[in-house]
Amino acid sequence: MAYKNFTGTRVFSPDNISIAAEIIKSGGLVAFPTETVYGLGANALNPEAVENIFRAKGRPADNPLIVHIAEISDIKKYSENLSEKAKMLMEKFWPGPLAIILKKSREIPDIVSAGLDTAAFRMPGHQIALDLIRKSGLPIAAPSANTSGRPSPTDAAHVLEDLSGKIDAVIDAGPVHIGIESTVIDMSGDMPAILRPGKISAEEIEEVIGKIEVIAHFGDTGNAPPAPGMKYRHYSPFARVEILEDESEMFRLARDYISAGKRVAAVIDSDEKVKSPFIRFYRDYNHLANELFRWFRDFDDAGAEVILIKRVKKEGIGNAIMNRLEKAASK
Ligand code: TXA
Ligand code: MG
Repeated sequence: MAYKNFTGTRVFSPDNISIAAEIIKSGGLVAFPTETVYGLGANALNPEAVENIFRAKGRPADNPLIVHIAEISDIKKYSENLSEKAKMLMEKFWPGPLAIILKKSREIPDIVSAGLDTAAFRMPGHQIALDLIRKSGLPIAAPSANTSGRPSPTDAAHVLEDLSGKIDAVIDAGPVHIGIESTVIDMSGDMPAILRPGKISAEEIEEVIGKIEVIAHFGDTGNAPPAPGMKYRHYSPFARVEILEDESEMFRLARDYISAGKRVAAVIDSDEKVKSPFIRFYRDYNHLANELFRWFRDFDDAGAEVILIKRVKKEGIGNAIMNRLEKAASK
């Protein structure tokens, strides 16, 4: 099944991947599912096609993209000075939610890496993404398929909400599995450094390659540069996000905002099932990671002005959740 919506963006089901691959080959933009979030893909070797990614998203030109590949062996063509440790990470975590920064080869155009001499690479753990890369026969440059600054899309509907009419097509394969973007690790320098926390934790990585650095905030640099994307506000709903210490602070603030006439939404860790467009409950951190960006968009649709959420423990995927919450809360 495929159809063109009223803005001209085509919506493909997974059995139309071959047509989507043709669009990539001819320099077009195709949004596609990965296990983390939907990506906005273009031929990574075609600078004009990549430029259109920046244009469609309204993305600052100094924020580099991740190059998606479908075979580990392809990395030799696109990178240089590949270390043993980087190879070990690929063997262990690919396909999967880990983007690895390496010194890039001349094959990768400068626009992809925003002029840096390094580039981020990832082999996604999603069959549709892998099929699209294989059928196009090309590396695919893809940031998250949202308007720059908005929450990353975890469903094809979110992609269309932001980019309908600005991209050629989206492959709709339903909701993603993880819901938060990949862990980004810089393996281009002497000391491996995590630039963006994700589903794969620092502990899991250290089990494979030993000591690494974690650069959790822009500004607190070690000897590796932070991901350029970290200086931008990110993942933000239109509503103001407030992170609270505990329940009593949440209730107090909710009362204050409500008596000031504000529409307040809340994300709560409980297995209750109250139905309200202003409340969402989560069972555990994986569930929260999976739904967070969707709930931000739902609350915006409901007209919420403030979103309240209790801080989560910085352990496992909790690190990645707090990183996204802190970015969403910074204005
Ligand atoms: O899960 C994901 O990684 C998704 C899916 C589509 O693969 N992609 C994604 O891409 O989240 P994007 O562009 O939204 O985030 C990529 C991050 C940015 O913070 C960017 O600054 C950083 O990776 N990055 C990319 N190349 C880099 C480089 N050479 N050096 C430092 N940071 C880099
Ligand atoms: Mg993004």
